[in-house]
Amino acid sequence: MEKHIVENTTASPPDTRIVLGITGSIAAYKAAEMVRLWVKAGVTVDVVMTEAACRFISPLTLQALSGRPVWTEMWQGAQDRMSHISLSRGAQAIVVAPATADFLARTVQGRADDLLSVLCLAREGSLFVAPAMNRQMWTHPATQRNVAQLRADGVITLGPDAGELACGETGEGRMLSPEAIVAAVSAHLVEGKTFGRLLAGRRVLLTAGPTFEAIDPVRGLTNRSSGKMGFALAQAAAQAGAEVTLVAGPVTLPTPSGVTRVNVVSAQEMANAVFARIDRADIFIGVAAVADYALAAPADQKLKKETNETLTLTLRPTIDILAELAQRAPRVFRVGFAAESQNIAAQGEAKRQRKNLPLLIANRAQDAINADDNEVILLDDNGAHPLPRMDKSLLARRLVEEIARRLSR
Ligand code: CTP
Repeated sequence: MEKHIVENTTASPPDTRIVLGITGSIAAYKAAEMVRLWVKAGVTVDVVMTEAACRFISPLTLQALSGRPVWTEMWQGAQDRMSHISLSRGAQAIVVAPATADFLARTVQGRADDLLSVLCLAREGSLFVAPAMNRQMWTHPATQRNVAQLRADGVITLGPDAGELACGETGEGRMLSPEAIVAAVSAHLVEGKTFGRLLAGRRVLLTAGPTFEAIDPVRGLTNRSSGKMGFALAQAAAQAGAEVTLVAGPVTLPTPSGVTRVNVVSAQEMANAVFARIDRADIFIGVAAVADYALAAPADQKLKKETNETLTLTLRPTIDILAELAQRAPRVFRVGFAAESQNIAAQGEAKRQRKNLPLLIANRAQDAINADDNEVILLDDNGAHPLPRMDKSLLARRLVEEIARRLSR
């Protein structure tokens, strides 16, 4: 009965190929069972082993179970054009199980001095790591720092479990069971496939980050928006199959892959960039913290300090991009954000009505501005729908699902 449940959870999308990386831990013997479960579920598995891993389990065992060559050296197969990088091309995921403390540290540094590290660096699919080590190694601040950095880099960590360890001690550090690892990876791949079609054929235009309104050639008015939420949404929309254009205020975040980026500085430039592209959009998401006021007349030359004089700046309102789109592009599905410091749902709903939006995402201004996670309330014609606090990249995927669902109605 239990066997039946386990094998049901291994269902992966058809034509799945994964790279299984094995590093030097006693838990390496469990890799054989993972390969067996995957092969049984119809998944193609290319096994890559580090030199240390070969001391714990024989490549021959994994070759027999996977029915494919096992890769242990960087230059293996170079003569038949199977270069080291091509092994990761087209693979939906690289799963490193067991992953030693040393492997985690090396991945954080982006090392490329053995085959597995090179593949992790040059991958297209997701990277999963299932740590396995002594409990003190696991709880050591260096390892914990490395794991936090890997997660920030988008690596998915599986486990470890707590329990009896190979060294005879008890605690956290045991690799998850082969069944649990195989099930978690399969679930992710299945979810990824469905997610990858959610916005197929749709064109998404977003704004993100702060704007900067010049006072003089070197000074200006801006705000503390990091752009993280908008960039995460752009990335999620691209992952969901949309054609994505991101109009970004001044932030140094890297452009998500597959996203076209247009850099702007001021609110007026942002408005111009949006209005020039709105005809080609199906969805507009205004995530930017656009300045509500700009200098009426920015100085051409640097302002000089006049001792003991107060300085008065005259500001004029900027154009409200989102509100303007209700008139200019009513057929576009428009999504707004609202950062409120109090009465979040009520103030957010008032803003939604004022800007004539089918969907508005409201949050606490104090929470949202520079953090890596966020807690939001969705506001639409059916009322308020709070979501639990989550990491911004997870939240972005959730919001893409919410937008796709409303569009398909
Ligand atoms: N927005 C916009 N153009 C502006 C100002 C805001 O497109 N000039 C968009 C933001 O990108 C966001 C939404 O409008 O999606 C809400 O912005 P916010 O600044 O919170 O709203 P305001 O209307 O400026 O209201 P207030 O600052 O008074 O809360």
